[in-house]
Amino acid sequence: MSDDNLKNLSKKTAQPLRVAVLVSGSGSNLQVLINAMQATALPIEIVGVISNREDAYAITRAKDAAIPVAILSHVASGKRMGIKTFETHANAQLISWQPDLIVLAGFMRVLSSSFIDNAPAPMINLHPALLPAYKGLDTHQRAIQAGERHHGCSIHVVTAELDAGAVLTQAMLEVRQKEDAASLQFRVQKAEHQLLPWTILLIANGVINLNDQVDDAKTSYLPALPLKLWLDD
Ligand code: GRF
Repeated sequence: MSDDNLKNLSKKTAQPLRVAVLVSGSGSNLQVLINAMQATALPIEIVGVISNREDAYAITRAKDAAIPVAILSHVASGKRMGIKTFETHANAQLISWQPDLIVLAGFMRVLSSSFIDNAPAPMINLHPALLPAYKGLDTHQRAIQAGERHHGCSIHVVTAELDAGAVLTQAMLEVRQKEDAASLQFRVQKAEHQLLPWTILLIANGVINLNDQVDDAKTSYLPALPLKLWLDD
C-alpha cells in the first residue's frame, strides 16, 4: 500500500467511502454490504465488483443492485486467464472506479505483491479463522480436528504474504461439542456478516485508521488492534 493511498483514505470524512469488492462465490458478504448501503446504515458507495468466476452468484447480486461488475475469468479465446492477465485487467478496472478501499470478500485467488503494492487503495480481506491461526483453506475442519474451543473470522490488511497482514478485527464464537465443519462454517459465516460491515464502519469513521497503522503515537488513544466481537449465537 503506498503512502498516497493511506493519505487519500484518511482525508475522507463526510463523503461516503468508495468501496470496490472482489468476489469469487455466493457473495453473501457482498449482499450484506449492499443492504447496509441501501439502508444508509453504512456511509459507503460500492463503486464496483470484480469477480474472477463467471458463475459466481455475487455477480447477480451486484447487477440487481445496479453496481458495475467486471467478470475477469476468461480471455476472449475462451482460455482461463492467467493471474498476470487477471491482475492487469483488475488493476485498470480498479483505477477507473477510484476506490478508497478494496474489500476481498470470499475472493479465492492469491494476488501478487506487485498487484497489492500498486493497488489504488488499501486492501482488506475477510478470512474464516482467528488469525494468525489457520491461514489458508479448510479452516473450520482444521479447527475442529485440533479440538479448538474457539473459532471465528478475521479481517486483515492484505499483504504479499498470504493471510499474514495486520489483523484489524475478529469475531469469535465457541465451538460446540461434537460440532461438524458444516455447522461451524454456517455459524462463522453469520459472524462474518456482522464483522464486515462493523469493520468498514470503523474504517469509514476513522476509528480504525489504516493510516495510523504506521503511527503508534496516534493509536495510543484507542484500544489495540485487533478489535474483537464475542458472539453468543
Ligand atoms: C466466506 O465464508 C469467507 O470466509 C470465505 O469465503 C466465503 C465467502 O462467502 N473466504 P460469500 O461469497 O460472501 O457468501
